[in-house]
Amino acid sequence: MRKILITGALGQIGSELVPALIARYGAENVVASDLRMRRMEPAAEAWPDTEMFEHLDCTDAVAIHNLVQRYDIGAIYHMAALLSAIAEEKPQAAWNLNMGGLYGVLEAARQHRCQVFMPSSIGAFGPATPMVDTPQVTIQRPTTIYGVTKVAGELLCDYYHSRFGVDTRGLRLPGLVSHKAPPGGGTTDYAVDMFHQAIRYQHFSCFLEADTRLDMMYMPDAIKAMIGLMEADPKRLLHRNAFNVTAMNFTPDELAAEIRTHIPDFVIEYDNVDPVCQAIADSWPRSIDDSAARGEWDWSPDYGIKDMTADMLDKVGAKLHQTG
Ligand code: SER
Repeated sequence: MRKILITGALGQIGSELVPALIARYGAENVVASDLRMRRMEPAAEAWPDTEMFEHLDCTDAVAIHNLVQRYDIGAIYHMAALLSAIAEEKPQAAWNLNMGGLYGVLEAARQHRCQVFMPSSIGAFGPATPMVDTPQVTIQRPTTIYGVTKVAGELLCDYYHSRFGVDTRGLRLPGLVSHKAPPGGGTTDYAVDMFHQAIRYQHFSCFLEADTRLDMMYMPDAIKAMIGLMEADPKRLLHRNAFNVTAMNFTPDELAAEIRTHIPDFVIEYDNVDPVCQAIADSWPRSIDDSAARGEWDWSPDYGIKDMTADMLDKVGAKLHQTG
């Protein structure tokens, strides 16, 4: 088979996607890449030794092209991007990486006939979007630079499919909860922080308000969704870029209550709410409708808030115990 390239492989998603792809397709078929150096990343320790790792700056289209050519890449999971909160701090850098990176990937894919996975997000919606049960096809007028790059990215992927026949596929991912690599700069990352702080200090100061309801997903489901969509029968896909997918939705207060069923002394406070993050979260849907994904490629999540919380506490607890 032609090889699979992952960009942003040391990030929150990439560090779990790489081993999942290796387990499914074999280490000899998976090329991981990142702007960062693998040896310096704590999460890299947990990786299998055998896979190929390349330094790749996704704003360098020539470097992407060379890598795709050198390894005979047939599919690209393009994970390198700045998330919503950090993108709002440096919008120009966010545009350069999120759009420039995707453009470079799509151009390489066009020339070398690669399949492309592009992660879109609930951030592709905005205040004018219907906030509850947000439909698959609806108004998308995001107010963040992150959202602007996601909508533009969805459209660019559609264009490369219809104009050049590139097999582009994508998901609008909700907030992702995971324990392997730390998330970086997302609005929904409060949920991951909450687990760490609950175990360490039984106390968490939340940067979102208590009743901020957002869609969420546990990482094993996100990995399952990405690989499931990439393997789906193209004849069934009416919406290739990008499918709404969700597994659960909750507020910080509801997640805290679930954690409290395991750690009764856990206290959450809302005295340090971040106005920028709050405004971002308020512009996103409360719940999205993922019936197109369920109907077109049989999407169905395995984890709800209870299973996810129990597993997160287990895994984060074990890790903190090891590191002291
Ligand atoms: N989790 C992302 C963020 O908060 C949304 O896609 O930026």
